[in-house]
Amino acid sequence: MKCKPKLGLSVFIFFFYLAAVTSDLDSDRRALVAIRKSVRGRPLLLWNMSASSPCSWHGVYCAAGRVTELRLPGNGLFGSLPIGGIGNLTQLQTLSLRFNSLSGPIPSDFSNLVLLRYLYLQGNAFSGEIPSFLFTLPNIIRINLGENRFSGRIPDNVNSATRLATLYLQRNQLTGPIPEITITLQQFNVSSNQLNGSIPNSLSGFPAAVFEGNTLCGKPLNPCEGIAPSESPNSPPPPGKKDSDKLSAGAIAGIVIGCVVGLLLLLLLLFCLCCRKKKKEETVPSTNAQRTVAAPTTSTAAIPKETVVDVPPASGAVSKDLIFFVKSFGTFDLDGLLKASAEVLGKGTVGSSYKASFDHGLVVAVKRLRDVVVPEKDFRERLQVLGSMSHANLVTLIAYYFSRDEKLLVFEYMSRGSLSALLHGNKGNGRTPLNWETRAGIALGAARAISYLHSRDSTTSHGNIKSSNILLSNSYEAKVSDYGLAPIISSTSAPNRIDGYRAPEVTDARKISQKADVYSFGVLILELLTGKSPTHQQLNEEGVDLPRWVQSVTEQQSPSDVFDPELTRYETEGNENLTRLLKIGMSCTAQYPDSRPSMAEVTRLIEEVSRSSGSPNPVSD
Ligand SMILES: *[C@@H]1O[C@H](CO)[C@@H](O)[C@H](O)[C@H]1NC(C)=O
Ligand SMILES: *[C@@H]1O[C@H](CO)[C@@H](O)[C@H](O)[C@H]1NC(C)=O
Ligand SMILES: *[C@@H]1O[C@H](CO)[C@@H](O)[C@H](O)[C@H]1NC(C)=O
Ligand SMILES: *[C@@H]1O[C@H](CO)[C@@H](O)[C@H](O)[C@H]1NC(C)=O
Repeated sequence: MKCKPKLGLSVFIFFFYLAAVTSDLDSDRRALVAIRKSVRGRPLLLWNMSASSPCSWHGVYCAAGRVTELRLPGNGLFGSLPIGGIGNLTQLQTLSLRFNSLSGPIPSDFSNLVLLRYLYLQGNAFSGEIPSFLFTLPNIIRINLGENRFSGRIPDNVNSATRLATLYLQRNQLTGPIPEITITLQQFNVSSNQLNGSIPNSLSGFPAAVFEGNTLCGKPLNPCEGIAPSESPNSPPPPGKKDSDKLSAGAIAGIVIGCVVGLLLLLLLLFCLCCRKKKKEETVPSTNAQRTVAAPTTSTAAIPKETVVDVPPASGAVSKDLIFFVKSFGTFDLDGLLKASAEVLGKGTVGSSYKASFDHGLVVAVKRLRDVVVPEKDFRERLQVLGSMSHANLVTLIAYYFSRDEKLLVFEYMSRGSLSALLHGNKGNGRTPLNWETRAGIALGAARAISYLHSRDSTTSHGNIKSSNILLSNSYEAKVSDYGLAPIISSTSAPNRIDGYRAPEVTDARKISQKADVYSFGVLILELLTGKSPTHQQLNEEGVDLPRWVQSVTEQQSPSDVFDPELTRYETEGNENLTRLLKIGMSCTAQYPDSRPSMAEVTRLIEEVSRSSGSPNPVSD
C-alpha cells in the first residue's frame, strides 16, 4: 500500500522531466494563447501577440526562461479555463485568478502542475467537485477556493498535501462531512457551505466562525447529540430538538464554570501562600507584565506616548552588580538604574526594551532579555565577547546584569528610533522623508557593522538583521543593535515562513550563518529601496517574499518601478545608483548560500555606489 503512491509519484516526476526537456517557453506561450482563446477579458486582449516571448505580457512572470507565475487578480475575466491551458504551464508555481468571474470546473490537467505552491481561485464562479489531485500536488502550500460554486464532498485525501498550510473553502455548496485532517493547517475556513456531521478533533482549535453556516457539530460548535449517525442533514433540526440541545449545553456550561471557579480559587490560595514566602527574597514583577503587554508590538523602537513606568525590578539574590564594559557614558549601580524614570520602548524578539533617564541627565536603553536558555557561565562568556566589540555603527553595549530572575543589557540610547519605524511609521505625523543620501548612508553603515562582526571570526554572525534592529543616531547614522544574541535566546517557535528576512536554508533561529546574515541584509537593502516591509501581509497573502517580488517586477518592467515613490520623487538623476544598490541587494538574496557575496564584498560595493553618487560618507573607520 505504502509503495504505491510513491511509485506513482516517481513515474509522474519522470514523465514530468521528459516533458520539461521537450517543452520550453514556446509551449508556455501556446498554452497562454489557448487560455486567451477561451477566457474573455480586456487584459488578455492587450497581450502583445507579436512578441515572441510571453514574459512581458500582463500578469505573466517568468524565471529561467519559463512561466512560473500567472497573476490576474480582479481583472474582470470570464469564461472557463480550457484543457491544455494552465495545465500546460508545467513550471507554474503561483496561480492567482482571484476575484474574477471565471466559471466551469478546475481542468483535469491541473494535475500536471507539480511545482504549484499557491493556488488562489477565490471569488469566482467555479463549479463542479473539488478535484482530489489538488492535494497530491507535491508542493502545494496554499489553496484558496472560497466564494465559488464548488459542490460535492471535500476530498478524503487532504492529508496527502503534506506542506499544505492554508485551506479556504468558505462560501461554496459543499456537502457531506469534513474528512479527518491530520496535517497541521495554519489557516482553515469552511463556513457557509452545506457540510454536516461532526468536526474532526484535529480542527477543534479553530474559531467557531470558520465552521458556521453549516450543520456541523462538535467542538468548537455545540456538542454532537449522542451518536446521531442518521440525522437529517440539510433540513434544520426540529424545534423540540433544539431545546434539548440548549438544555444540555447549559448544563455543561454550568459544570464547566463550576470547575473553573473552583480551580481558580485553589490557584489563588496557592499563589497567596507562595507570595508570602517569597516576598522577602524578591520583588515579583507582576505589574510589569501588564506594562509589557501594553507596549506596542509592531516595532521595537516605536515610542509609546509617555508611558512612564519603573524599570523592571530585579532580584538581588545572586549579584547586585552591573558589569560595565564602557564607562565613558557615566556609571551607575543597579539601584540607580532601577530608580531612574523609565519608558517602554517596545517588545522585540529577544525581550522588552525600556528607556531609562537618570536625574542627572544620562539616558540609556535597557533590554530585559526573555527566554535565556544558556547557563550563567555561558551567558557571561557570551556577554564578555559582545562587550569587547566596538564599532561606530554598532550600538554600544554599556553594561549587563545577570541574576536568576533578571537578565538586563544596558545600551546607549538612540533618539531617532529604528529604521523600521522611520520607513513604515505614520507618514502623516511630521515624519521626515528619507532621501537617497540618507538611505545609502544607512545601508553603508549597517554593512560596515555587520562586516565588522563577521571579521571577528568565521562563526560570529548577527543572527537577527531586520529594520527594527537598525537604530539611528541623531545624524541618521545606522547603529546596528541586538547583535550576537541569537545563540543565548531560545527560539520559541520554529522558523517562521512569514518572517520575511530569514534565508531559505535556515531551520534553527539559533544557528544563523554569516551567509544567512547576508541574505537578511539583502532583504534590508530591498526594504530601504522599495519602502515595502518584508513582513507585509499583502506580499505574504500572495505567497511572494520581497526578493521574489523585486525580481519579478524588475524582469517585467523597468527597475525604477520598484523604488519607493518617496525616494524617486525628489531624485532627478542618479537613478543609476539606485539600480546598482538594488542589484547588490538582489545578489545578497540569492537562493543558495554559496552564490551570495561575503559581507566584506558587499560593503566594498556599497562604498563604491555611495562614492559615485557623491553622498558624504557619514562614518568612516
Ligand atoms: C509588440 O511586440 C513587438 C515585437 O516585440 C514590438 O515591436 C511592439 O512594439 C510591441 N507592441 C507594443 C504595443 O508593445
Ligand atoms: C498541451 O500539452 C499537450 C501534451 O504535451 C499537447 O499535446 C498540447 O498540444 C498542448 N496544448 C497546447 C495548447 O499547447
Ligand atoms: C471565514 O469565512 C467567512 C465567510 O464565510 C468570513 O466571514 C470569516 O471572516 C472567515 N474567517 C476566517 C478566520 O478566515
Ligand atoms: C449528511 O447529509 C447526507 C445527505 O446530504 C446524509 O446522507 C448523511 O447521513 C448526513 N450525515 C450526517 C452525519 O448527518
